[in-house]
Amino acid sequence: MSSIILEALDIAKTYHSSAVAVEALKPCTLSFSEGEFTVIVGKSGSGKSTLLNLLGTLDVPDQGDILLQGKSVLKLSDNALSRLRRRKVGFVHQDYSLFPEYTAYENIIMPIRLDDRKEEEETILGIMKTLGIEDCKDKFPGEMSGGQQQRTAIARALAIRPAVILADEPTGNLDAATSREVIRLLSRASRVYSQTIIMATHDRQSADYADRVLSIRDGVVKEMAVTGQG
Ligand SMILES: Nc1ncnc2c1ncn2[C@@H]1O[C@H](COP(=O)(O)OP(=O)(O)OP(=O)(O)O)[C@@H](O)[C@H]1O
Ligand SMILES: [Mg+2]
Repeated sequence: MSSIILEALDIAKTYHSSAVAVEALKPCTLSFSEGEFTVIVGKSGSGKSTLLNLLGTLDVPDQGDILLQGKSVLKLSDNALSRLRRRKVGFVHQDYSLFPEYTAYENIIMPIRLDDRKEEEETILGIMKTLGIEDCKDKFPGEMSGGQQQRTAIARALAIRPAVILADEPTGNLDAATSREVIRLLSRASRVYSQTIIMATHDRQSADYADRVLSIRDGVVKEMAVTGQG
């Protein structure tokens, strides 16, 4: 039995923009175990990013609570929350969120440096190699393709070996072969390093590699039967 690392207790989110209110996430309760690889599938606008942002504490739910290693993250001070997030949570954003004035390598090691730790260059280069971006080491985001930037964002999330990786459409800009490599890498990371991985995608095929599949539709999250290879 593996232990639970991340829990969402009755969380919900409604966005109020102009005249309309969008119930982006209806109340839901979820728990994620150590080393579990979860795929969240759903159409555009179904609420995938909303759910990931809440789980990753980048956004605050209207109700409910998020527990990371049993601790309520909503009760933490901003400082304590940033520290916890930096150490425990790796986020791959849908829009990459790389810093344009830093090279790929500098972007990747940034969370480690911010945490006052020294990066292991060999490990970082190994991750870059696996992701096929070793040639991008000294390139700036503006000099890389969308797919290369996406892989840099994935490398950045992997580099700190966080307990939990939240990946928002990490393969959205990759060709089919690279996409499969990335999913395999994430799946391997979940097993080898017992990392908990939660990935949102449109691509139902990536569910083949998942331990668990959640589907989301109009903000309603449902657990799906899994036929994957684990
Ligand atoms: N900041 C916001 N303000 C207002 N409405 C928002 C905001 N963010 C998301 N929404 C709305 O909430 C709903 C869910 O959006 P969300 O971004 O979570 O979907 P998604 O499943 O990630 O879509 P995609 O696959 O296109 O990334 C959508 O109807 C969207 O328009
Ligand atoms: Mg999204």
